[in-house]
Amino acid sequence: MGATVRIELDPLGIVLDAEQGSTLESILAMHGVEFPCGGAGTCGGCRVQVLAGAAEPQEADLLVLTDAELAAGYRLACRIRADSPLKLKVDQWSMPVLSDDAAGAASLRHGLAVAIDLGTTTLAAQLIDQKTGAVLGLRTALNPQSAHGADVMSRVRFSLSNGELTTLIRSCLAQMIADLADGRAAEIVEVVLVGNTVMHHLFCGLDAEPLAHVPFRSPNLGEQRFSPQQLGWNLPASAVIRFLPCLGGFVGSDILAGILATSLHAGHQLRALIDLGTNGEIALGNCDRILCASTAAGTAFEAGAIRMGMRAAVGAVSHVSWDGVRLHCGVIGDVEPRGICGSGLIDAVAAGLDMGAILPSGRMANGDKVMSLQHPVELYQADIRELQLAKGAIAAGLRILLEHWGAELDGIESVHLAGAFGNYVRPRSACRIGLLEVPAERLIAAGNSALRGAKLSIGVDHFPVLGIIEHVPLASDPEFEDKFVDCMSFPDGHETVAANCVHPDD
Ligand code: FES
Repeated sequence: MGATVRIELDPLGIVLDAEQGSTLESILAMHGVEFPCGGAGTCGGCRVQVLAGAAEPQEADLLVLTDAELAAGYRLACRIRADSPLKLKVDQWSMPVLSDDAAGAASLRHGLAVAIDLGTTTLAAQLIDQKTGAVLGLRTALNPQSAHGADVMSRVRFSLSNGELTTLIRSCLAQMIADLADGRAAEIVEVVLVGNTVMHHLFCGLDAEPLAHVPFRSPNLGEQRFSPQQLGWNLPASAVIRFLPCLGGFVGSDILAGILATSLHAGHQLRALIDLGTNGEIALGNCDRILCASTAAGTAFEAGAIRMGMRAAVGAVSHVSWDGVRLHCGVIGDVEPRGICGSGLIDAVAAGLDMGAILPSGRMANGDKVMSLQHPVELYQADIRELQLAKGAIAAGLRILLEHWGAELDGIESVHLAGAFGNYVRPRSACRIGLLEVPAERLIAAGNSALRGAKLSIGVDHFPVLGIIEHVPLASDPEFEDKFVDCMSFPDGHETVAANCVHPDD
């Protein structure tokens, strides 16, 4: 690195050295700043406030930001260059990363292992004592690839013209493992990674082109193994690094790990595991057979295409309820709201349905175009439509898997909701809007089941469960379109499913 300049991130207290004249996307992404349009300078979603130092507005700043924002020092993070020392306010991006407290499996093996959940947005790694299964340490981080797009498809597109994403994630994880080992890296014998299909391909350096178009079928879905030398990681030469196999199309090893963590394959009861995201992943089954599928849900669950949408970070309306007279909003960090995150969106629409402000068709009552939540955050007609598309895709996917299975919704004993979003969504609201068409008491937050499953896979070379898993490609299913349209409307308040909804807090 040549000459450097000091970049301070407030209120994190983090001070970084950036190469003079360089752009800041990569280093800011590692500290949570989002770049929704991949740095194209068009969305305005990456705006940060310059608290000290000089950052002249660029052409894109002048086009995207208001005069008031420019005067208050806001700039597009994707356009800031490190010409001189800067202090940037990034508190709006602080976001908790979901981890998992469960121990790994005890074994006769000695030495340390690392389990990693490589998510599109967040990374979580745990150091495990193989003999006892004890968790010795945890490191979390935001995926530095976020600088090149928030969702998997924008990462795929970026990767087609640039190999940088593989280097970025490998070096970020190398650093996390070094921090985690804290001088004991020589004792690490195995690293197990899980993630969705795109994360698998990008980490492994595989061609992601087949994932960019229909039928989204890659020939490289299997487990990938590496030596530390191949990755340039500072671990013993005999250590093995394994990225567990994907289950098909867009169903990754995070779902395989989730199946192991929730024991979906144990017992005769029919259960489901659902990861709600841009790409919704669903597994349904029992000890005899497990069907899995993925369905493109759009970005509504991550509030991506929502007018005032934002990540579940400080300032996001994350909880909305209607008490029969007034709306109540909960804001992360108890600060002035700046936007609404996915769980808040689902709550808001559920509350709107309860109030009669939103009709089962999804239209706002009385010709309204906007529903006020808490100033200045509002819900727009187009936001409701986005949510209808997302929830229609998930509900239709589950219905099709049930048909392939030969069972009815009533036959599902429980639905495990994987990942951060599944952890925060309120069962009553998910049920009220018809996202999940089973009674709320059957919905179970599974936490970070991907990380738990990765821990359980340490030292396991063979997964018999793979023999009972079948991938169902929804994109080519002739029933999907009709079911999807059917599932887009909301249940009215008198339908059985909604009437059965009981939130544990209620
Ligand atoms: S304006 Fe979209 S990422 Fe910067």
